[in-house]
Amino acid sequence: MTLSPVLPDWYRSKAHFEDQERTAIFHQCWIFACLNLELADGKHVCCVIGDKSVVLQGGKDGKPRAYLNVCSHRQAQLCEPGGTNSGPLRCPYHGWVYDRDGVPVGIPQKHAFAQVIEAPQQFRLTEFACESAGEFVFVRLSSEGPALSEYLGSQFGFLLKTSQGMTRVLDEFRKDVQANWKVLIENSLEGYHVPAVHAGSFMQIDGMDRAEVAPQFYFPDELHSHLEHAADADWIQRFARMESKIGQWPWRFEHYTHRHIFPNLTITSFMGYSFHVQRFEPTQVDCTTVHSRTVGVELCNGTAAGAKMIEHIHADGHAFTRKVFDEDAGICRKVQAGLKQATRSPVLGVGIEDRVSHFHRAYSKFAVDR
Ligand code: FES
Ligand SMILES: [Fe+2]
Repeated sequence: MTLSPVLPDWYRSKAHFEDQERTAIFHQCWIFACLNLELADGKHVCCVIGDKSVVLQGGKDGKPRAYLNVCSHRQAQLCEPGGTNSGPLRCPYHGWVYDRDGVPVGIPQKHAFAQVIEAPQQFRLTEFACESAGEFVFVRLSSEGPALSEYLGSQFGFLLKTSQGMTRVLDEFRKDVQANWKVLIENSLEGYHVPAVHAGSFMQIDGMDRAEVAPQFYFPDELHSHLEHAADADWIQRFARMESKIGQWPWRFEHYTHRHIFPNLTITSFMGYSFHVQRFEPTQVDCTTVHSRTVGVELCNGTAAGAKMIEHIHADGHAFTRKVFDEDAGICRKVQAGLKQATRSPVLGVGIEDRVSHFHRAYSKFAVDR
């Protein structure tokens, strides 16, 4: 057992949230924003990173770009956070239109803005560092810092492999949970709560080897961690019979994996035929917006019957994801209620809560007030 270095006040202090988290951690780290496939066909996506509202779109060179969501004219917000929009970026106030590189190219009554027409580049939207690992687009608010591949360490390769053959978002939802973002991340990092919280969902799941093989934890990087839990051998055999109909997909593995990419991205998958991508956006010290997506991958050489099978598997998966989410959200609200009153540091179990300890050590590197 260990005592966590993370103090209860860090889950409930508005000042800590603003000064240490939103304007320190979420400024310095690469923060997952969206998937490249969500930016296809000229679409733009708007999300909140730290204390900034950010709009993303594909640049003329095909690479993603991230801009402050503020018009260069009279500073109106360009689009609503949480949304995906088609067509060019157009300000809702006076209708300035920006091209894919954030340059104002369409200005109503342009004779009134000679300087902008002459040197539109000077009036480009404020840009942030933006890089991708396969389909996964990350933004760094700070102008200084490591390249994305260096920041992601061993998870960079995982994201590249995961991105192979990703086709589209099969299911998604956004929900607010009345808890500090760390409560939700910590909850996702341990299976210790599963018997008490998920008796009607996770505990019933088919295909996981519960009896003998415990999940393996991996800590190859200072900030990120993952687990792998072997699939049950009998289940794999049964599943293999369906696979001849379902077809092949680019990266097939025989385990469940849960990845945490610091600070606020988790990715889970069972066998690699789809990936569940969750982004935890801290909106207030005690409120987090969770954006959950299930992303499908390309299946080759399947039959029509196999396509129906996988449709059912996905539909069951979506319902299961929502049920588990609601169970977790319910317990996280209770944890936050407890943390409001807490006077001591959390106690962490050895082994079963090692990923939480690892997260707390990573977090302590950034959040330093004591
Ligand atoms: S504020 Fe955007 S066009 Fe005027
Ligand atoms: Fe859970």
